[in-house]
Amino acid sequence: MKGVILAGGLGSRMRPLTKITNKHLLPVYDKPMVYYPLETLVEAGITDILIVTGGNNAGDFLRLLGNGKEFGLQHLNYTYQEGEGGIAEALSLAEFFSDKEPICVILGDNILENSIKEYIHEFKRQGGGARILLKEVPDPQRFGVPVIAGERIIRIEEKPTQPQSNYAVIGVYMYDPTVFDITRTLKPSARGELEITDVNNHYIEQGTMRYNIIHGWWTDAGTFESLLRATNLVAQQHGIC
Ligand code: DAU
Repeated sequence: MKGVILAGGLGSRMRPLTKITNKHLLPVYDKPMVYYPLETLVEAGITDILIVTGGNNAGDFLRLLGNGKEFGLQHLNYTYQEGEGGIAEALSLAEFFSDKEPICVILGDNILENSIKEYIHEFKRQGGGARILLKEVPDPQRFGVPVIAGERIIRIEEKPTQPQSNYAVIGVYMYDPTVFDITRTLKPSARGELEITDVNNHYIEQGTMRYNIIHGWWTDAGTFESLLRATNLVAQQHGIC
């Protein structure tokens, strides 16, 4: 299983913080944001990792993370996304790296309290398809939201004005290698992006999507409010405030 961290995009929602640096290099308590998804993958036993970055400050990722030695890695892979074509476009850049192996994708602004190891084990046991992770949230309209019937997810709606459940699809996705056949078929959404929710809906239609509801806190850090929340959650974890 290989790992992919998506840290592209221009972070336009967070200007002026992102005027001269990349969103994923901003501090979350005592570490740059991108450390958290990287540590989550490494802790789960994934050592072959690609970072997709973009914007004007891509070189700073290399200066910050180098070959990953600080994280116990022997090597890190990097690639570059031009512009802000969406999460699924950033993912499509990982096809060459994945080399027909399954992948665990994590968004560069997602921070989790707990390990994802058990979910990766479950994905490996399911033999193909995809697996997503859900967390109950007070503001589901900000996220991809599953429509659940009984035990089954019947579809995911991206940022619905009237959410059909109180769950967010968090930014950790496990895919078999057919994911790149799916990304090739995608069309840009109303916001002009290739959407990861469309990828996930493909797997749901095929009947090969599974999910877990995660324990412990989870947050994104891609708005001023959620960056503050992420910082406070990490500080509390360290016993501060
Ligand atoms: O955080 C979880 C949510 O992330 C999901 O619930 C949503 O379904 C999913 O669409 C996404 O929503 P956001 O609108 O919050 O995504 P955002 O545009 O903030 O991008 C999240 C990360 O994805 C960002 O930190 C870097 C990466 N990304 C994003 C874009 C648009 C890229 O690598 N390239 C891109 O072009």
